Amino acid sequence: MERNGGNVPDITVVGSANIDLVIGVERLVREGETLPGGDLQLFAGGKGANQACAAARLGGNVAMVAQVGRDLFGSQLIASLKNAGVDTSRVGLVDRSSGCASIFVFPDGRNAIVISPGANATLEPTIALSRLDCVRKGSYLLAQLEIPLETVAQVLAEAKSRGAITILDPAPAWRLLPEVLRNVDILTPNQTEAAIVAGIPCGATCDSRDATELAGILLQMGASAVVVKMGENGCAIRTSDLVATVPGFRVAAVDTTAAGDVFNAALAVALGEGSTLLDAAVFANAAAAICVTRAGAQPSIPSRAEVDVFLHEHRHSIQINLIHQEKTCSL
Ligand code: RIB
Repeated sequence: MERNGGNVPDITVVGSANIDLVIGVERLVREGETLPGGDLQLFAGGKGANQACAAARLGGNVAMVAQVGRDLFGSQLIASLKNAGVDTSRVGLVDRSSGCASIFVFPDGRNAIVISPGANATLEPTIALSRLDCVRKGSYLLAQLEIPLETVAQVLAEAKSRGAITILDPAPAWRLLPEVLRNVDILTPNQTEAAIVAGIPCGATCDSRDATELAGILLQMGASAVVVKMGENGCAIRTSDLVATVPGFRVAAVDTTAAGDVFNAALAVALGEGSTLLDAAVFANAAAAICVTRAGAQPSIPSRAEVDVFLHEHRHSIQINLIHQEKTCSL
């Protein structure tokens, strides 16, 4: 994997911070039912904060723009970010409960999540825009959709106007307009999210719809590149001059929470260090694979050294399936 000789990428994450209340369960609870589960566990989480912690642990120079409550959870969320090496000077304290997520983890490591946005909902456009001083040409801007959609739209536009590279994780998914997608350099939905963002009616068929086909639709809607995350199956990549799939690494999953966040952070770090999009996807698959072998969101984030060792140990199973490539490939 070629890297840009020690280049440390500058990454700003604008997004959510949640405390995750996690219970292991055999299956999803039904309406009107009381289901016994495992012991409650509390972890620092939130898609934004997870991406910030992961980007810092993997080698980025990271600033987080977020809002947390003036409560015990807020202090814990800031402490976890600081502990990972994230600059928290742009995290505001507000008189509202910190964001919270109820997470049910199933025996195969998959999960079901309900979020209570709380303080995350107070990250209004003017507040976020006033904290983008680190965003400049060549730096990376990572966003997700657990804060107000209008904030994400305005932050993406501002970052693009400054020449930053924008990566949007459209989770939880909403239908997005082309004017928002046009400010996204790399869109990273899973298959279900890809269909929702594109406005394709989402029934049981969403997951089986070809990922490269969905990526093509989102590309036409305005995103410059689309990386469809497919869990243990890796990802599908589509740009104007490239179509490829990058298979995932086989590991025994314990808890898939935050795997998508770790993937996004790793993708940004590797690209910022000079990797190609395909090599960055391999690095991101490896980081996400380690993440799913551990419980919790932020405690499951691997260090850079762990990912490098993992990649070395799995070097013979690294695979990139090029479906189509023009002569030269940007990004
Ligand atoms: O992506 C995982 C995250 O989603 C969890 O940490 C939870 O807080 C929800 O935001």
